[in-house]
Amino acid sequence: MFKHLSAVPGDPLLALITAHKNDPNPNKVDLGVGVYKDDQGNTPVLNSVKKAEAILLDQEHSKSYLGINGAPEFTPVIQELLLGENSSIIDEKRIFSAQTPGGTGALKVAADFISSSLPDTRIWVSDPTWGNHLPIFRSAGLSIETYPYYDAKTNGVRFDDMMSSLKENAKAGDTILLHACCHNPTGIDLSFEQWKIVTAFVAERSLLPLVDAAYQGFGDGLDEDMAGLRHMASQIPNMLICNSFSKNFGIYRERCGGLTVIAETTEEASNAYSIIGLAIRANYSMPPAHGAAVVYTIMNHPELKAEWIDEVNAMRDRINGLREKLVVKLAASGVSKDFSFIRNQRGMFSYSGLTLEQVRKLRSDYSIYIADTGRMNVAGITDNNIDYVCDAITCVVG
Ligand code: LMR
Repeated sequence: MFKHLSAVPGDPLLALITAHKNDPNPNKVDLGVGVYKDDQGNTPVLNSVKKAEAILLDQEHSKSYLGINGAPEFTPVIQELLLGENSSIIDEKRIFSAQTPGGTGALKVAADFISSSLPDTRIWVSDPTWGNHLPIFRSAGLSIETYPYYDAKTNGVRFDDMMSSLKENAKAGDTILLHACCHNPTGIDLSFEQWKIVTAFVAERSLLPLVDAAYQGFGDGLDEDMAGLRHMASQIPNMLICNSFSKNFGIYRERCGGLTVIAETTEEASNAYSIIGLAIRANYSMPPAHGAAVVYTIMNHPELKAEWIDEVNAMRDRINGLREKLVVKLAASGVSKDFSFIRNQRGMFSYSGLTLEQVRKLRSDYSIYIADTGRMNVAGITDNNIDYVCDAITCVVG
């Protein structure tokens, strides 16, 4: 039955992890997949998570199934983190949230929901967007269109082109994917003023926003990073939000995220949520329990919550500090390219502007692993490797 099959190349980002792992060079540096690392190059378990796990070990009383939507205790945690504690949308009960296996699980369920409920919609994604968005949307049968986003000349957003393309081509009922903060892969976010303009357009054209919030807390702050999303949610009737707890709780392998639906009335939101339930059941039946239990244990425990907020702040400060150091060291190394834009990017990633040829040279000659697109995981830099990385970049760029 399988004789006609030939092997396909795997996801390039995941292939990078294996290539780095198998590289015997003791100086190798992994700036590939988006995983936070500390200054020793480790991805530690947060202290707040360890303490919550100790509580769970003691108090967990059953491993029976959760429902399709996950633990009820988790719902307010997702909603309050995304929309803020005083959100009128929460008070008005126009919002439902399901616990999902990571942000990826949320995206797949959202895509299936869109595909089954809005069959004429097309989904607009930024050029570029996270490498896995396209396979997820394709696998749900969605028709994908792109809007201009990254400006290689200014290392900013092609905002005028983005808006004119959407104005010209998006039709009522289409879906638009936006990154809440820390745009993956570029690290370049819309400003709040730009969020306002996009919001007015989304309202006027009757689009459905699907917001991917995978890096809350890694840009400017837990609330600051949601400012654009919150503004949009306050102005338009319908929204889908996919969020991930992988990064901000450091629980990558626990696969913990959420899918939130907001509608004009409780009834509409509840109807949509029931259809989302069918998509969940058909995909994975029910979400895994542990990650969400860790998250709600922390968020319902004032001391652990305060400790977690400090830990998120420390991760963000380290990344932003590394951006500054990179800019200064690269400039001091006499590299011919101006890398000062790295300072203005947000989150783990920096679209470095390095060409494919330069990326390959960094890999083959220096064992420095950066995605083919030139996307660099800034969090993989440490005080021990920063000079090596800057010197290597200077050598390949000239
Ligand atoms: C990334 O973009 O590196 C992360 O979101 C991890 C992943 O699964 O791709």
